Amino acid sequence: MKIIKNPKELKIYLKKMPQSIGFVPTMGALHEGHISLIQKAKKENEFIVVSIFVNPTQFAKNEDLSKYPNDTLRDEKICEMSGVDVLFYPDAKDIYGEDEVSVLAPNVRGFVLEGYTRPSHFNGVLTVVMKLFNIVKPDRAYFGKKDAQQLHLIQLMVKQLFMDVSIIPVDTMRESDGLAMSSRNVYLSKIQREQSLKISSSLNLARGLISKNIYDAKKIKQQMRQYLEPLEVYYVEVLDREFHTIDSVEIGNTLILVEVKVGDTRLLDNIWL
Ligand code: PAF
Repeated sequence: MKIIKNPKELKIYLKKMPQSIGFVPTMGALHEGHISLIQKAKKENEFIVVSIFVNPTQFAKNEDLSKYPNDTLRDEKICEMSGVDVLFYPDAKDIYGEDEVSVLAPNVRGFVLEGYTRPSHFNGVLTVVMKLFNIVKPDRAYFGKKDAQQLHLIQLMVKQLFMDVSIIPVDTMRESDGLAMSSRNVYLSKIQREQSLKISSSLNLARGLISKNIYDAKKIKQQMRQYLEPLEVYYVEVLDREFHTIDSVEIGNTLILVEVKVGDTRLLDNIWL
């Protein structure tokens, strides 16, 4: 595996590659979820690039940028063992300059759900993903379904800006007790870890209601919120796959999304119906 830090060097290196490039952008602190993205990318492409970059512009001033988990050697080993060809590990100064051009999240879908409490977040995500795509020029890029809003906005950016990359959604990986895998899970104390199990169970509760033919979005949201008490709930939403509010679950075109705060940690999860 080759490790490249400089964007220009990576561009020159990848220009010589005749093969199809699969790209997995990450912020490091890699876990099974990331490995499943890499594995899927390996099945569908000849050459695999993973980036590790804790992107400062997607964190607000009061957020956990400096505390974001980071274990470079472990991440390198995971990439090496997963068969990654190039690990791109840039410094912030090589990605961002002064007086930056940036990508703006759409006015509605970028500022609801996670974007409501983190209004600058998706501008930062879309800007860095655009930069990374321009450096790597992948044929396919892999994103987890757990970050459903991020995935949707990236798909929207690629479509609306006529970009030449296929965005491939990958199923959420879960711990054996149901908790969705996330780099932020390491912040949880033992008690918080137990409390956080309510998140996936609340989604199971929704599944149970739907299996009893209860499709009414309001009823499902109410019961989920009740179940999630006393956790601090940022949102529980029932949306269609284009992120529009719907009154009733429509199998094949629905997402149920939840985000809660456990201690100081934001945790999100969802199901695709
Ligand atoms: O999901 C993430 O890890 C990040 O938001 C991403 C897509 C790598 C952009 O920084």
